[in-house]
Amino acid sequence: MIRLKYTPIALLGIGFLALTNFTTESNSLVPLNLPSLKEVYKDDFLIGTALNAGQIDEKSPKETQLIAEQFNAATPENIMKAEVIHPRWDQYNFTYADKLVEFGKKNKLAINAHTLVWHSQLPPFVRKIKRADSLQLFLKEHIQTVAGRYRGKVQSWDVVNEALNEDGTLRKSIFLNKLGEGYLVEAFRLAQAASPETQLYYNDYNNEQPAKRAGCIEIIKKIQAAGVRIDGVGIQGHWHVGKIPLQHIEESILAYAALGVKVAITELDIEVLKRDFQGAEVSQRMSNEQGLNPYTSGLPDSLQQQLARDYESLFKLFVKHKDKIARVTFWGVHDGQSWLNGWPVRGRTNYPLLFDRQYNPKPAFYKVIQAHQ
Ligand code: XIL
Repeated sequence: MIRLKYTPIALLGIGFLALTNFTTESNSLVPLNLPSLKEVYKDDFLIGTALNAGQIDEKSPKETQLIAEQFNAATPENIMKAEVIHPRWDQYNFTYADKLVEFGKKNKLAINAHTLVWHSQLPPFVRKIKRADSLQLFLKEHIQTVAGRYRGKVQSWDVVNEALNEDGTLRKSIFLNKLGEGYLVEAFRLAQAASPETQLYYNDYNNEQPAKRAGCIEIIKKIQAAGVRIDGVGIQGHWHVGKIPLQHIEESILAYAALGVKVAITELDIEVLKRDFQGAEVSQRMSNEQGLNPYTSGLPDSLQQQLARDYESLFKLFVKHKDKIARVTFWGVHDGQSWLNGWPVRGRTNYPLLFDRQYNPKPAFYKVIQAHQ
């Protein structure tokens, strides 16, 4: 019997199994031997990343490993937006959001859900709504159903995203136009009722800029005055290399904290390519003129170093105000994943994050690690 076990064929089988096991293990178990962002900042704030569908599906074991080693928070890049999670009046699609919650449990990531009320990435049926009472009903059912399902499973919700114009007035979105400004308080009231333990955030880009910041403060005060909870404000943090508005960021952290809410940097990336406007309105585009995509075969060293210095000064500022900051989330794990390769010009090669396209750390990664001291 014993002899039989070790026939050449059986040995071949064992060898093959050992080999496959070894390959899987070498992908998922051997540490990457890097300092870890989440470890270095563990007493300060959470370090998050946006995750796309492929990452939630664990398509690349090495990428999964990098996520688990470096981050302790995650935001769904797209899969909890209304167009994905609520495609028709009476139809929800929770497949990926449920998977994300599982992925979070497995890899010890807090889930920062994004987003309940936003004018972009709405399903077509919402855009077609004519009557105020129908839109009101959508808002109510959407928040009750989606926030209710993830009650106790997500740490925070971006309840409302991008409700402001650059001058601090309210954006004329479908929600403002049909429901009036009361929709803001109503959204937070509904989210609080559906998911009482979840931290509720208002999230926007450029809300570190003085005029937009003033509008953001008005929103927070209005919600507080109505006796409704708002726990934090998200500053998205889509900034440009060499032009980080550090002073405005610091003033904003102080101003928001003075209202008794936490600050989170929710979508951090630092773009290195040319742009003819500021901000992150996803419907805004630039035409693909010549010269807009100059670094297809690599980033010049001067820019690489500038990017690293920008990240360093940002993280020094965040550490200075760590008592007011709940979390810093990058809008992606590595450069290859970044939305900035496709927006506002399609098909560019951008370099906005801490890891490169091969998942290797860039100089900016080490500067962020060092910025902690
Ligand atoms: C972006 C995603 O990264 C893209 O994949 C998608 O095509 C468009 O939206 N502000 C936000 C995010 O709040 O949801 C946006 O994410 C980037 C700007």
